[in-house]
Amino acid sequence: DNLPIAVQGAMDIEISVLLKEMGHYKQETHGNYTYYIGKIKGIPVVISRTGIGMVNAAASTALLIEHYHPRTIINQGAAGGHDPKLHVFDSVIGVEVMNIGRLRSEHLDDGQGIRPKTWKFVETEMRENGEIKEYAAFKSDPALVKAALRAAPKYRHGKVVAGKVGSSDFWNREVDRIQWFHKNAGTSVEEMEAASVAQVAKGFNIPFLSVRTVSNSEVSGDKIEALVTAGRYCAEFAIEIVKAMGTGS
Ligand code: 5AD
Repeated sequence: DNLPIAVQGAMDIEISVLLKEMGHYKQETHGNYTYYIGKIKGIPVVISRTGIGMVNAAASTALLIEHYHPRTIINQGAAGGHDPKLHVFDSVIGVEVMNIGRLRSEHLDDGQGIRPKTWKFVETEMRENGEIKEYAAFKSDPALVKAALRAAPKYRHGKVVAGKVGSSDFWNREVDRIQWFHKNAGTSVEEMEAASVAQVAKGFNIPFLSVRTVSNSEVSGDKIEALVTAGRYCAEFAIEIVKAMGTGS
């Protein structure tokens, strides 16, 4: 099967390493979204710059699927740590991804304030063959998780763990709120795209994988914010995952 593996990054810093690895490639733009078509180690790939956030991720994934029919979609890039054991430059294989911005609150009266700790997560509804199904989270494809685990020893900038990725259009820096997500949603890291991509990929039955490198953490004691470097490291890891997949899975 010669269908490409798609690798997505939200920002240029998250795809530049992949473009360099391809060497030469063809560039196509649909709406706001640019796709770079080439090969990595002889394997057909489409590198996709999704733009930042859930809406960009969803729209660019739909266009990716319609135009390039990828056999798998790898969403990767930088992320913020929720698990205090994760340090900057550690990487997370997102076995599960969850939209942590889908919340509801109970009624409170005028003047009763806001109580984020009482907010409840809302499952994502998907229509599948005419039936409504609800998802608390989406799973990465098990064969892709295995390929990522096979590639993990090649990752030299920190540890690699299997974990859960939380997505929303929110950059959280309040430690109590981060701890609340970690406890109630079980998130390892947060970012702004994976769950949206996973949802669209699921709708088209395309295997999905989330991989993220920690670029910042309010809960680990690390004081640096290293978006650019973490973006590069994650893209390097993604290249190893593509190689580990080969033309198989
Ligand atoms: N919170 C949210 N998004 C983050 N990103 C990196 N760190 C965080 C964080 N702590 C990623 C998002 C987005 C960009 C701003 O960086 O996925 O693409």
